[in-house]
Amino acid sequence: MRVLVTGGAGYIGSHTVVQLVAAGHEPVVVDSHVNSRPSVLPRLEELTGTRIESHGFDLRDADATSALLGEGGFDAVIHFAGLKAVGESGRSPLEYYDNNLGTTFALLRAMGRHGVGTLVFSSSATVYGEQAPVPYREGHEPLVSSSPYGRSKVMQEQILRDVAATGAVRVALLRYFNPVGAHPSGRIGEDPQGIPNNLMPFIAQVAVGRRERLQVFGGDYPTADGTAERDYIHVEDLAAGHVAALDHLRDHPEIRVREWNLGGGRGTSVLEMVAAFEAASGRPIPYDVVDRRAGDLPAFWADASRAEVELGWRATRTIEQMCADTWRWQSANPQGYPA
Ligand code: NAD
Ligand code: WQD
Repeated sequence: MRVLVTGGAGYIGSHTVVQLVAAGHEPVVVDSHVNSRPSVLPRLEELTGTRIESHGFDLRDADATSALLGEGGFDAVIHFAGLKAVGESGRSPLEYYDNNLGTTFALLRAMGRHGVGTLVFSSSATVYGEQAPVPYREGHEPLVSSSPYGRSKVMQEQILRDVAATGAVRVALLRYFNPVGAHPSGRIGEDPQGIPNNLMPFIAQVAVGRRERLQVFGGDYPTADGTAERDYIHVEDLAAGHVAALDHLRDHPEIRVREWNLGGGRGTSVLEMVAAFEAASGRPIPYDVVDRRAGDLPAFWADASRAEVELGWRATRTIEQMCADTWRWQSANPQGYPA
């Protein structure tokens, strides 16, 4: 399949591009580089041994998006492009709604105009909100979220369901849990700009000497060691989940819209992650336990059985591999991608 990968220069998109090529598909990247570096692209060509067609524009440019899809030959779209920082979304809600909904509108219109009928969408466990029973199951309702970022995902899911109901597009809604790790080559990985918001890149930057100490947000949660538990998933497993969803939609034309959790199905605490990273890197991770971060939940993980049964997909990589691969990427690229 020829697949348009929006946000294909970003963290999850770049890993998915590599796996699409390995699976015999032809990915085409579009990315505005609002949160990525163009220098990832030659590395994708190096890893895949093939030329990757790429386009640098903002998907909200409806004419450019339509012109690209109008070039023809696309079988599907994987839509990663979006802004994703929860805290920033509270400070700039309009920017988040505009970008995340605007990219989806432009894409859906262009797909409709040019007869591209299959979409795989990056959703998030954040749509389960604060009240859903753990483990999270796809059938849970209502979908709610506590941040503008999360609400933009709830809204996009709803818009996609409404458009899918007309028969205009068939949609996989993939709800990711906590993606971490990097390609085992160490050539591509997560490269947050500024101070990392997420745990794993922060730990990695402490290990490599870019930051002095980790702050552990909350030591008094009702968990085994008092720190919060999350369902970390290796980005390589996550990328494989996209290929599986794409193949599943192709083989099941009766599906109009379907949600799948992509997680490992178990919780790991902050301190367990710190210990695993120390073991993988051989570096100490000094930390202080500080107050809880506003909005954080004590513990959640996926029931990932629907993806296993229906997609034949399961997360197989361990916490140790997540840390080892992150460390290989971070130690070889201490400042991330070249500008
Ligand atoms: P990322 O920021 O690394 O990648 C997103 C890419 O989209 C970036 O390269 C960015 O430049 C591009 N982009 C943003 N707005 C654009 C626009 N208007 N036009 C064109 N390109 C644009 O993020 P990621 O971690 O790879 O996340 C990919 C998707 O998965 C996002 O939709 C995110 O919300 C979702 N998601 C991520 C996580 C996570 O923890 N990383 C968890 C759940 C869901
Ligand atoms: C993990 C754990 C923190 C940083 C976020 C989004 C979610 C999804 C994935 C997009 C928590 C603790 C963190 C630090 C810490 N993204 N922590 N010190 O919050 O589970 O999920 O990313 O959809 O929507 O909310 O991930 O990596 O920020 O935090 O102690 O410096 O690590 O408190 O328990 P989170 P995270």
